[in-house]
Parts: sequence; structure tokens; C-alpha cells
Amino acid sequence: LTVLSVASEAVPLVKTGGLADVVGALPGALAAHGVAVTTLLPGYPSLLVQLEKPRAVHEWDNLLGESARLLAAKLGDHPLYVLDCPALFVRDGLPYADTAGKDWADNWRRFSALGRAAADIAGGAVRVRGKAQGFDLLHAHDWQAAMAAAYLRYAPFEGQAVPSVVTVHNIAFQGQFGAEIFGALGLPPWAWDMYGVEYYGGFGMLKAGLYCADAITTVSPTYAREIRTEAFGMGLEGLIAARGSAVHGILNGIDAAVWNPAADPSLAQPYTLRTLGKRAVNKRALEAEFGLAEDDGPLFVAITRLTWQKGMDVLAEAVDDLVAEGGRLAVLGSGDAAIEQGLQTAALRHPGRVAVRIGYDEPLSHRMQAGGDAILIPSRFEPCGLTQLYGLAYGCLPVVARTGGLADTVIDANPAALATGVATGVQFDGVDLDNLRAAISRTVALYRAPEEWKKVQKNAMKADFSWGASGAAYARLYRSLLA
Ligand code: ADP
Ligand code: GLC
Repeated sequence: LTVLSVASEAVPLVKTGGLADVVGALPGALAAHGVAVTTLLPGYPSLLVQLEKPRAVHEWDNLLGESARLLAAKLGDHPLYVLDCPALFVRDGLPYADTAGKDWADNWRRFSALGRAAADIAGGAVRVRGKAQGFDLLHAHDWQAAMAAAYLRYAPFEGQAVPSVVTVHNIAFQGQFGAEIFGALGLPPWAWDMYGVEYYGGFGMLKAGLYCADAITTVSPTYAREIRTEAFGMGLEGLIAARGSAVHGILNGIDAAVWNPAADPSLAQPYTLRTLGKRAVNKRALEAEFGLAEDDGPLFVAITRLTWQKGMDVLAEAVDDLVAEGGRLAVLGSGDAAIEQGLQTAALRHPGRVAVRIGYDEPLSHRMQAGGDAILIPSRFEPCGLTQLYGLAYGCLPVVARTGGLADTVIDANPAALATGVATGVQFDGVDLDNLRAAISRTVALYRAPEEWKKVQKNAMKADFSWGASGAAYARLYRSLLA
């Protein structure tokens, strides 16, 4: 079974968030189940320079008005296609925005072209050395790739309309644009319909994909239920509910080759479940790296986009209480200016107790999971979340809001869970200052009972969130669509 997986980012080549971790891990996760995945990514400049011996295998003279080439290369050990379209992708800045952080105005064209190319390839319209390159199935991730499913459904092309799966990694990002661009998409007029690509009078890229896909997945069972409701569906709840049993929640896994405290090259001191004592070396190193006072109290960390979704505004408000409880806090992230500033001011109020690094730093994020005692994830919504899974694997206990994938992956250290020995972290309901404060307080109390804490840490590290079960679930879904 062959699958073309199309997305706007994938580790190790380009990453702005968890989407990249998941897209990068899927080929390995699925190979174990007899599914051969080829990934298609856009040719950003930073990605093109990392390709080893790329080969040009196809050319488009007119891909939504631009000329483009298809390059074949590798994503780790797995086959990769890159859409090399300089007019759309070779520019300074980030995948979705310019250097000032403003979204590219032509994102609709950039990512519709990606979708169009994906449909051509998966459907077999692209021939490499005379041979059609068709795939059994197309799997598109998020709004940036979702148009692939719409092109497979609507656009006349020489290929075959193979089944498609669209995965929602975050329904808050939908790729919405004005109606005026419809004419440039190369779709037949009847696609402009509520039962089609039209969305509240405009053009919705994710909407189009969700409407056209044969199956929809999202990245946790709880989020699959939540997005049927107004509070979480962000306008798409009706469509999601209407798609009924075509919507599946499949939890993300973690890539143990990248996230393993026993063999992590970023750490001062690797450790395992059995050598938890060695973790202290990483804690001391992390305190030094952040300029925090050495202390036996709990060291909290946060590694995240600094946004409203992630509840980081509430964390900024809770800092004084966290410190009053005897905790310290190290934050790594970037995002909203007001939240960045709120956290930085808090750090100024608490020198040696609170430190903030604005930026993106992959190795540092590993050191924080290995040196922190607990990771704070007070998300208002969280489709899956990966940092709590990394926290579990590293014994950095997740303190999470009970929503989406956070609800599905952490077992709250309530009296019953402690008594039966299954707790892996702390959960709380309702992201506001009082609830977060109470969760921090419970975490500090647990930390002050070292034997209990160690038990919870060990449960956390034993929890299995590798790709095994989820890879199997995707493979089952693909096969059911081909049957
Ligand atoms: P989201 O994709 O919504 O941002 P996830 O928890 O799924 O949230 O994934 C976030 C990913 O990005 C994780 O791999 C996390 O470690 C990483 N990450 C987030 N912020 C930073 C940062 N500032 N530096 C390094 N890694 C980060
Ligand atoms: C999105 C979500 C996050 C999820 C990630 C990977 O960025 O916000 O919860 O873990 O995608 O699926």
C-alpha cells in the first residue's frame, strides 16, 4: 500500500510546531505496517539547501499560473518529493509569513498549488521517466495541504481520483480567503458551493478538504469529539458533526529515536527509569543555563508557542504564586508580544527564580524536559500536544488542562490514582488563574512527598506513547478506504 503524505512542514527539514514532528514520524510509523509513505513538501530555501542529491523528476509549465519542478530526495530514510516553485516558495521569511511575521498574502495560491501538485502526483498524472507515479491513497495534513482532497474530487486531470484522508492538527487554523480568488484555483464552477469549497461566503481551504476527504482524522479521540461542538469547532462543527463516522481520533505518537532520555545527545547526563538519580545533573545544568538559583524545590518549565491557545497569558499571571509556593520557572518560547512581555516582566520581578528565553531552540527544549521537574501546559484547547508526551518520557511531570490530547494522555494524581499507582501527572479543569494556581499548588505538594513523586515519575516514564498503536490505526483506516 503506497501513500503520498502532503504537508507544509516535516522534521528534520522544516518545523514550526508539532505538525512537523508528526509528519516526519509517519513514514517510519507506517513502514512497520506494510505502508510505504512518500512525503511531499514545499521547496522553501532553507529546505532546498538541506537536500542531498535532489533529482528533478517532473515539470509543470502551469501550476496555478507558475512553473514548477518536482524534486526527488530523502526525508531521513524515506522517499521525499519537494515542490520546487521559486515564485511561490523561494522567499525570505518563515513558511507562512514574512520576516515581520505577517502572513503571506498569497498563501491561498502557495498552498493550493501544493494541493494541486499532490493530487496530480497521487492520482498518477505525473509521470517520471514515462511511468505514472500514482499512489494508492493521499493523506493531507492541515489547511495548507487540504486542497489536495478538493482537487482529487473536482479537477479534471489525467489521473485517477484515489481516496484521500485529511488530518486536522488544529482546527483553529483554516486558511480562509476572499471569494475573489476562486477563479484562479482552476476548479469547476460547481465547486463553489456550501457543499464544496465555499465557506461563509469566502473560500475555506480546510473546509474544502474536510468536505471532500473520504476520511477525516484528528490527533486525539477527545479532540475528535470536541470539534463537533461550537466551543471547539471554530465554525466547522456542523461539517464535522455531519461527517459522522468518517471522523476518527488517532493519537500522535512520539519518535523514540529523537526523544529518549537514555540516548539523547543534547543532555548533560543521559538517564533511564532505573537511574533516575542521575537526573539531578540535568537539573543543575539547566539552573545554570537559565541563571536560576540552585535549590531543592520544584523547577517548572514551559516549552511552547506563547499564545492564547496555550494559556500562556494565564501562566504569566500565575508566576508570583508559583514563586510564593517555592517553585522556580524556566520558559522557552515565542509568540504574542504581550505574553512575551508579561513573562519577561515576571522574570525581572523574580531574579534567580524565573527566567525566560524568547526564541526557538530544539536542543534546549530537550535539556528542559530532562532537567525540569514538571512541565506546565495550561492549554485552552489542544488537539493532541506533544510536549506532555515528551515530559512523560523524560520524567518531567506534565501539569495539564483537561482538554483534547492532554485529557487522553495524562492520568491525574488524584487520591484514587495515587493509591492504585497509575498517576502520571496533574490535570485540572478550566483554564483560569485560580485553577492553574491550584494545580501548581497540588504539584508542589506532590513534589514535597518524594517517594510518591518518584512513583509518579516512574509511571510516566513507563507510559507507552510510541507510534506502535497509532501507526496501526492509520494503516487500518487506509485499508478500510481501499477495501
Ligand atoms: P503545537 O504544534 O500546537 O505548537 P505541540 O505540543 O504539538 O504544539 O508541538 C510543539 C512542538 O514544538 C514540540 O516538539 C515542542 O517541543 C516544540 N517547541 C515549541 N516551542 C519551542 C521552542 N521555543 N523551542 C523549541 N521547541 C519548541
Ligand atoms: C497542532 C496542535 C497540537 C498537535 C500538533 C501535531 O499543532 O496544536 O496539539 O500536537 O498539531 O498533531
